[in-house]
Amino acid sequence: MTDQHWDEVYRTKAPDSVSWYQPSPEPSLQALDRFHVPATASLIDIGGGASSLVDHLLDRGWSDLSVLDIAAPALDVAKARLGPSADRVRWEVADITGWIPDRSYDVWHDRAVFHFLTNTEQREGYRRAMAAGVAPNGLVFVATFALDGPERCSGLSVQRYDAPGLLAEMGSGYQLLETWREEHTTPGGGKQSFNWCVFRRALATDRSEENTPTP
Ligand SMILES: C[S@@+](CC[C@H](N)C(=O)[O-])C[C@H]1O[C@@H](n2cnc3c(N)ncnc32)[C@H](O)[C@@H]1O
Repeated sequence: MTDQHWDEVYRTKAPDSVSWYQPSPEPSLQALDRFHVPATASLIDIGGGASSLVDHLLDRGWSDLSVLDIAAPALDVAKARLGPSADRVRWEVADITGWIPDRSYDVWHDRAVFHFLTNTEQREGYRRAMAAGVAPNGLVFVATFALDGPERCSGLSVQRYDAPGLLAEMGSGYQLLETWREEHTTPGGGKQSFNWCVFRRALATDRSEENTPTP
């Protein structure tokens, strides 16, 4: 599936001019460090777009990296920047709300994507992808606009979250480990409040209890 909106964004705007651009993905790198995630872990960057997160992780010795995005032109930007190293990353053009992964990942990373899912069907689809894509005991890093963050991004409405709100979306199979705020500075000098949440997926044995009806 393709999405014309996002294709158009990446075809027409310079990568370093979009509001979510970061010269270096420090908040994500610091979040991974905070949880001592080793370079041997597998990671998927959901809606990774043209982010340089994978460039930095390759430099740090990570070898099992995937980037998924609905917009092929976004991934083309990242691949061109990486050059031959792009072959060391698995690239997926897909709509996360309808994607069923064929494997699971130790780390699920999402910066500024979940908040675009403004209807319940989209969020259900996202959770279905997580159910197949996050390994038992895996870590889920999600950064959305905070409750006092922007109401729109890239011309689209967003759903803003605090930690309890995002935890409610994740469901009982995920334990909230930590949450914090980040003030992102856009290329134009504006400020955007993000809310970061880190979840751990329950072990497979725990998950069997998830759907047990309460007597
Ligand atoms: C605000 S940008 C963030 C990009 C990247 N995560 C970063 O931090 O630089 C949102 C990204 O999500 C992608 N996206 C939006 N909806 C999506 C969907 N349903 N499935 C997959 N990717 C999506 C867009 O193409 C875009 O690259």
